[in-house]
Amino acid sequence: MHNLFTIPLFLLLSVLLVTAQAAEPSSQQLTSPDGSIEVTVEVRDAGVYYSVQYKKQAVIQASRLGFDIQGQPQLAANLEVTDVQRNTTHQAWQQVWGERAEVVDHHNQLSISLQEREGLQRKLELVFRAFDDGIGFRYHLPQQPNLQEFAIEDELTEFALAQNYHAWWIPAYRDQRYEYQYLKSALSSIDVAHTPLTLTDDGIAIAIHEAALVDYASMTLRNVSDNHKTLKADLVPWADGTKVYAKTPLTTPWRTIQIASQAAELINSDLIVNLNEPNRLGDTSAYVKPGKYMGVWWEMHIGSKSWSPGADQGATTERVKEYIDFAAEHDIDGVLVEGWNKGWEGEWWQRKPTFIFDEPVVGFDIQAAVDYASSKGRQLVGHHETAAGIAHYEAQMERAFAYYQKLGIHSVKMGYVGTRLEGKEWHHGQFMVRHFAKVVATAAKYQVMVNAHETIKDTGLRRTYPNLMTRECVRGMEYNGGSPDTGNLPNHTVIIPFTRGLAGPTDFTPGIFNFDYQEHRPYNRVPTTLAKQLALYVTLYSPLQMAADLPENYQGHPAFQFIDDVPTDWQESRALQGEIGEFLVIARKDRHSEDWYLGATSNETPRQLSIKLDFLDAGRYQATIYRDGEQAHWRTNPEDYVIESKKVKAGQVLKLDLKPGGGAAVRLHRL
Ligand code: NOJ
Ligand code: CA
Repeated sequence: MHNLFTIPLFLLLSVLLVTAQAAEPSSQQLTSPDGSIEVTVEVRDAGVYYSVQYKKQAVIQASRLGFDIQGQPQLAANLEVTDVQRNTTHQAWQQVWGERAEVVDHHNQLSISLQEREGLQRKLELVFRAFDDGIGFRYHLPQQPNLQEFAIEDELTEFALAQNYHAWWIPAYRDQRYEYQYLKSALSSIDVAHTPLTLTDDGIAIAIHEAALVDYASMTLRNVSDNHKTLKADLVPWADGTKVYAKTPLTTPWRTIQIASQAAELINSDLIVNLNEPNRLGDTSAYVKPGKYMGVWWEMHIGSKSWSPGADQGATTERVKEYIDFAAEHDIDGVLVEGWNKGWEGEWWQRKPTFIFDEPVVGFDIQAAVDYASSKGRQLVGHHETAAGIAHYEAQMERAFAYYQKLGIHSVKMGYVGTRLEGKEWHHGQFMVRHFAKVVATAAKYQVMVNAHETIKDTGLRRTYPNLMTRECVRGMEYNGGSPDTGNLPNHTVIIPFTRGLAGPTDFTPGIFNFDYQEHRPYNRVPTTLAKQLALYVTLYSPLQMAADLPENYQGHPAFQFIDDVPTDWQESRALQGEIGEFLVIARKDRHSEDWYLGATSNETPRQLSIKLDFLDAGRYQATIYRDGEQAHWRTNPEDYVIESKKVKAGQVLKLDLKPGGGAAVRLHRL
């Protein structure tokens, strides 16, 4: 955890120390600024290998690097070092929005230029960065005569893990994309996993992921060695089997390895955003606004309303006005309307898409809804469900965003429901990466914020494109509503901040207050207490947070005050305590006031937590505590909660009693 206040101002300026070496060393070392992480890169005749140590213990043993290129020999061996460059960067940069206003980027960099000794004499550069919270490395293939337009058949990058760590993972190449519950097993039992992949053991927590995934395939990790501890990059292919279509100069995404002594510390890492390019959109303040939304959504998932036009139609002008009325009485900025447009008839997810993105469904007067919202200082949130039909959507995309801009709609939720894009492409290959880049650029052109479901995983591009607010890419609340395979387990929400959450903001959609929704869903339920639903607004980070329940379930409910109060943009965030799958405590300071908020969540095990309030600033705070009642239990009595108030100050210990599947949410208002 960087403490910004202890860094002298002169160090916040970028320091660039460059030394060039002409020699041909076979081994190069790189160390993190605090010395805890060491990377070694060895260039042998047989290939190029890197290894990583943390506090003098091996984490990654010598692991291969290189490529298989279609129609050419492997680009991996017989390389000689032609240049080595080193530099150090220490600077702070401001986030447009985020978990903290200011991010410190302090790293040492090693760049190694390589060239094949004979044959095609292709050139390859490796760039490694070592931070105190992990490392990143990537390949750069410069422009060169024997490598111009080409296809990557395989990326050879390996992660030869030093131990058979505990792994927290979801399987890759499955029909539900990233929407699985996490498995906990030995690393050796992984077949092929998505990233972030989190690994733990006593005194160490590791997360393997990637940063800045641009015009390339996403990386999954496949277990390849006899001892089952070596994971290999397995790039999600195109339908024709090619991994990446490329041309030089090519810079790959960063392969990232976050390392900390405890799992909760991984949540405090800024490595992924630090490895992305600065904001390219300039001043987005006219439309990029973190905030809260609600909308016509949960009622479809619990089966009382439908996306289809007709008697059960959820999107009606009247219903949307009810949401707007509630939003206007509270601190809720946007109202989402799913099923607002033409084309949702029947089983829309089973057929080729029929959506029209600039015509409202009969029964929903979008202009009247927009006007009504605006008269109450609120905005509609648009919705583009593509049902994975990319060509159908792209043909209308420009018009669709222009339509929203004309209506004054500055926020859209996207969806890519389907097992394959266009019926054949994976959701996570270069095809989707390219498509989604177009979406984000088009949205920016028409001043729209993006919240995407079922899209490619987050790799920190929000830094470069601050209109890319949040995404699902997780098994969200929806599975407690409409899914046929009955919901999530109570430990799910104390796993995902340590896994999926490391990639970036998560549109999980918390805030269910009514647990009695089984009329159409006899086997489903929300596996938490009500107090834990509140805590999720702090423990699951997203700059756009949904209040997912229906307005009538919130009406007159004293606990809604927490959702009203909780901000979605932060000055500072600190994961204080936690163990994956067990519990988590996070404190965050509002970006626009002196108030702090704290969320504590447990799995099905009750537990007493003592939380030192040493993160508070000087002075006194009024603590409003929303906690589980004495009889609270996620299965039998989720709605039992208590609101308490007391004065506290920095350094005191706050004791919280979490019931099974429970939690606590605390507002600390500066007096
Ligand atoms: C899947 C999304 O995750 C969900 O939130 C949405 O309601 C449906 N798609 C329909 O677009
Ligand atoms: Ca989904």
